[in-house]
Amino acid sequence: MERRVIETKVTEEDVHIEGSLRPKNLDDYIGQEKIKKTLKIYIDAAKKREEALDHVLFYGPPGLGKTTLAGIIAEEMGARLKITSGPAIERPGDIAAILNNLQDGDVLFLDEIHRINRQVEEVLYPAMEDFAIDIMIGKGPTAKSLRLPLPHFTLIGATTRAGLLSAPLRDRFGIINHLEFYSVEELAVIIKNSAGRLGVEIEDKAAIEMGRRARGTPRIANRLLKRVRDFAEIKYDGKITEEIANQALDLLKVDKYGLDELDRNILGTMIDKFSGGPVGLDTLAAAVGEDAGTIEDVYEPYLIKNGLINRTPRGRVVTELAMQHMLEIKDME
Ligand SMILES: Nc1ncnc2c1ncn2[C@@H]1O[C@H](COP(=O)(O)OP(=O)(O)O)[C@@H](O)[C@H]1O
Ligand SMILES: [Mg+2]
Repeated sequence: MERRVIETKVTEEDVHIEGSLRPKNLDDYIGQEKIKKTLKIYIDAAKKREEALDHVLFYGPPGLGKTTLAGIIAEEMGARLKITSGPAIERPGDIAAILNNLQDGDVLFLDEIHRINRQVEEVLYPAMEDFAIDIMIGKGPTAKSLRLPLPHFTLIGATTRAGLLSAPLRDRFGIINHLEFYSVEELAVIIKNSAGRLGVEIEDKAAIEMGRRARGTPRIANRLLKRVRDFAEIKYDGKITEEIANQALDLLKVDKYGLDELDRNILGTMIDKFSGGPVGLDTLAAAVGEDAGTIEDVYEPYLIKNGLINRTPRGRVVTELAMQHMLEIKDME
């Protein structure tokens, strides 16, 4: 099956392109102004006191720049960055080993932190709060708990599902940031910067049109840029004009709201099968053949933000705007 262009998970193609396009410092990081302002203050203060930065939690849909921010924080702090992820840490001993190998000031990035298990989480509590690790020596009635000190490190957690974090874990983060979808203008700037780095010429209007269709997400913006660039190189002389961008985007079947086929399938199903709702998440997931968690974390936030779906106590409902949009699309076909 052809991979969906607006897939927000990292694909192999992205790994190549993202390495070179990922901003390395706060000034190159576009948008998320509130987060940048707060981080700057905390980073400056920590540096002045010559202390590690407080633990940071980033949450929000995939592709909005959580991993990028972790890299930037390490860079701005002049710290080493260690990267791991929830699913990669199976046993308490795994996390203990990682923590033990840290040095003062290091940044430990724990991606998909909602996926760590209970025992691993319990190792993190004293590590985050007291920079210590408790080790059990011996077994049975003579067992003793020994507390070993850890270096002062910064834990940066990232998750698409803040709701799945336990309260005690969440409370141990001093700085908690919610990443928002990007505006069309911000995405256009990201696209232009990326084009510059890739050595591609692009018209302002083309960048805006691509920003409009990037689903509020920098990862998708960069992916669209790469596809449109290929199209411009193969069919034309390589420069991305508004017309070429539009042609390429139409071929990619991303509409003016940045909706892709699954978004439209969700809206279409709600309208056709459930008379616009209200419909429960699980019922909807079964009807469109997609995982409920994915709908909730990846699809729904964007549809809600754009006023296409509302959440009500009785379930999800489509809005008037969504009805109009779906009708317009049908007319175009
Ligand atoms: N604020 C931003 N400014 C410029 N580029 C960004 C920004 N946020 C993300 N990107 C780009 O999007 C890509 C995906 O971001 P990433 O940090 O991996 O997202 P997440 O970890 O939230 O899934 C990055 O490689 C980077 O090129
Ligand atoms: Mg990431």
